[in-house]
Amino acid sequence: MATVQGRISPAKARAKAQVALPPAVLPDLAYTPEVARETAHLYEKVARVIPPIEWPGFAPYIKAINDLKRARNAVVLAHNYMTPEIFHCVADVVGDSLQLAREASRTDAEIIVQGGVHFMAETSKLLNPDKMVLIPDLRAGCSLAASITAADVRAMREAYPGVPVVTYVNTSADVKAECDITCTSSNAVRVVESLGAPRVILIPDEYLAKWVASQTSVEIIAWKGHCEVHERFTGEELRAYRETDPGVKIIAHPECDQDVLEEADFTGSTSGMIKWVKDNQPSKVLLVTECSMSDNVAVEAPNVQFVRPCNLCPHMKRITLPKILESLVFLKEEVTIDPAVAEPARAAVERMINLNH
Ligand code: 13P
Ligand code: SF4
Repeated sequence: MATVQGRISPAKARAKAQVALPPAVLPDLAYTPEVARETAHLYEKVARVIPPIEWPGFAPYIKAINDLKRARNAVVLAHNYMTPEIFHCVADVVGDSLQLAREASRTDAEIIVQGGVHFMAETSKLLNPDKMVLIPDLRAGCSLAASITAADVRAMREAYPGVPVVTYVNTSADVKAECDITCTSSNAVRVVESLGAPRVILIPDEYLAKWVASQTSVEIIAWKGHCEVHERFTGEELRAYRETDPGVKIIAHPECDQDVLEEADFTGSTSGMIKWVKDNQPSKVLLVTECSMSDNVAVEAPNVQFVRPCNLCPHMKRITLPKILESLVFLKEEVTIDPAVAEPARAAVERMINLNH
């Protein structure tokens, strides 16, 4: 891989990061009294959602990861869909895609471990070309990112000459490189309107595009990608919940189809949904999104009861404590991006980040 001008190469960065690193061997993972003592404050946080019998299986990994993060000058960035033992016990930064991208651009750490899926790790790498970015499982993909290629974007540009292209961050760096600006679910409407154009191409999530179109007068041209987790929810299912329990509040992510969003009391990004619950403290709430989010919010909203017809994201669930530990011990899997792709892809992400300052 060539060196990006004015920046040290990833190989040099790795060599630098490896100076004075602890040896690449897995630590002892016994649940000793010392481990119990050092992790007790963390168990207090998650006791509502992790039964005591499961803690001895998690605690040695949590201590080992937190020790190794300090030794390696590493941070763990965790998406809101990470399981509670990751989200509350080893993450340095938690948030939605936009918050993680922003924090990735600010960190002083030399190594970033992405608790999330591959496109998120690529975004971190785009914003930190000189740092080592690790994803604990390279197979942690995303059905939206897999739904579109760079050639598809070029074909859309040809079909709609002069129409600006906004891509959801849930895409590969190759796709971002073909687009004018990225967006996330928390700023999609603002990004689309910032272009000042009467028509905008918004890829790849058809449902997010429909939702944005319902919030703005800009004409939206969409792609046919779907999130395999959110597309499983139906309006019918939610109406049945309301009939059984008329007081329940329904909060949905804009990756859901319109018949689902029509049933929702609030629609927003994962962090927008969390904020809504914390601010409104409903007695009962149904989060129409990935399962782990209810557990993570339940820790901080003890008076709220969560109804859980949630769906699991198989990609997010590939990230586990043992894999995060291996990632930090053996410095794998390292995310790399071809500099010819990285430069335009970074520009598209930075345009979005700068818009929010
Ligand atoms: P957020 O940016 O709202 O966290 O969404 C990311 C995602 O992948 C939701 O499925
Ligand atoms: Fe992709 Fe959907 Fe999983 Fe989010 S929940 S990472 S959009 S597959």
